[in-house]
Order: sequence, then C-alpha cells, then structure tokens
Amino acid sequence: MQARGVEKHFGSGKSVIGRLDLGVREGEFTAIVGPSGCGKSTLLRLVAGLEAPDAGTLSVDGLCPRDATHEVAFVFQDPTLLPWLKASENVRLLLELRGLPPAELEQRTVQALELVRLASHAHHYPRQLSGGQRMRVSLARALALSPRLLLLDEPFAALDELTREALNEELLALRALQRWTALFVTHSVSEAVFLSDRVLVMGPSPSGLIADIPVGLPARRDEATRRSAAYLDLVSKISGLLRAQTGEGRP
Ligand SMILES: Nc1ncnc2c1ncn2[C@@H]1O[C@H](COP(=O)(O)OP(=O)(O)OP(=O)(O)O)[C@@H](O)[C@H]1O
Ligand SMILES: [Mg+2]
Repeated sequence: MQARGVEKHFGSGKSVIGRLDLGVREGEFTAIVGPSGCGKSTLLRLVAGLEAPDAGTLSVDGLCPRDATHEVAFVFQDPTLLPWLKASENVRLLLELRGLPPAELEQRTVQALELVRLASHAHHYPRQLSGGQRMRVSLARALALSPRLLLLDEPFAALDELTREALNEELLALRALQRWTALFVTHSVSEAVFLSDRVLVMGPSPSGLIADIPVGLPARRDEATRRSAAYLDLVSKISGLLRAQTGEGRP
C-alpha cells in the first residue's frame, strides 16, 4: 500500500488528514495508534476505497483502492453480523456477493470457521455466541475472502482483556498461516506492540504520522513476550509519545 501526499477534508473544509505519506510492504503487520478523532478510521476507509482522498494518491497493489476491493477485507469494531443468519451464513454472504461458485463457497466457509476454531458453532445464530465468538465469526468472514490486505479497526476493543489477549495470539497464528498484510487500528498500545512489525503513531488531526516505530521483537510471541524488557520498553516509549500529543496523560 502506498500513500503519497494524501489529504482528507470533511464538511466545511476542516482537514482531518493533513498530508500523509506512507508505504506498507507486502506481508507487513502495521498497527496504528493515535488520539481519538485523529483520522485512523478515515485512513482505513481511504485505503479500502470507501472514501476518496481530496488530494494525493493512494494505491493498493499498484491499483486505485476502488479497483482493489477484491484484494481487501475490513474488520470493524462491531462484528456487524446479521442476526437472522447463522454463523456460516454470515461468513458465506460476502462470498455469494462476489459470485463464487457454490462448491468453492462452501469450502471457503468451512475452512474460515475452522481457522477461527468455530466449526462446531457454524449453525449458531449470533445471539447464541459470546462476544469473542462473534468477533471470531467476523474475522472468519474477512479471512474467507482470502484478502491480501486486511484492515482492522479496533476489532477487539469491546472485549475483556483476557479474551482480547487470546484473540491477539490467534490472529498471529492465522497470519503465520495466511500471510496477509495488515493495517490494525487500536487504542491499546500493548496490543499494537504485541501484534505488529511496526507501530505508526498519529498526532491530533490533521498532523498525520508523528512516529514510525519498528517492533524488532521475535516473530514468535506469547506470554513471555509480554513480560520481556524489549516489549515493555516499546510500550512505554509509544505511550509516552501519545501522552505528549494529547498533553492530558491519556492516549
Ligand atoms: N463522514 C464524515 N463526515 C464528517 N466528518 C467526519 C466524517 N468521518 C469522520 N469525520 C471526522 O473526522 C475526524 C476523524 O475521524 P475518524 O473516525 O477517522 O477518527 P479516529 O481516529 O478513528 O477516532 P476514534 O479513535 O475515536 O475512532 C473526526 O473529527 C470526525 O468527526
Ligand atoms: Mg475510529
């Protein structure tokens, strides 16, 4: 993904993203943190082709985002499952809309639910699933699309800490299997460091990126990672940067 001089304004011309230059390499897992309202979701929507930039250029795999929608899947903070459809039907829906042949559709649905360890819940309705399970169905729905670029906007924000940590580890295991490129927005600095190869820190709108921090932790991450000095140093450094931005002691 490449962004050059990207700007986005809303309404009365107020600039949300000032001037953004960013390159994300294939296979890279990039986390984005920044104060509320700084334009993180807007950036993901631009990359997904759901919004158009007011200036500058954006490309995904060399294509304009609107022509690359088949390469991209979006996971929102809310699982956005249709309550009248079973888990498997929720996963199938987007595949059907993409016009896949029935056999492939079935195979991808089963595989995606197996990946997120929910094969046994395929026939459950969303109301019969826990919050963590609903989020895993939402993840399965995105992964079933075989995206090359996965955009995640605070996907685990509504979950308790233990479920979030378990899902963080599952997400890393899935990535080792599938190797998509990821842009992951979160308010949790510890989650950002744990998951990613690189953390981008955005300043208050419209300042854009204020830091681009490589996470040089070993690829295999687990509970020991969360206790390591290198991990704790990075969390503290990035939290400090965010505090300095907001000036209020909270990200
Ligand atoms: N469609 C829109 N029309 C008008 N203003 C918008 C629109 N979308 C976003 N904005 C404004 O752009 C700014 C950035 O919004 P955005 O949702 O990208 O922030 P964010 O960094 O994701 O915040 P949060 O961390 O709270 O989710 C906000 O001031 C928001 O009000
Ligand atoms: Mg947001």
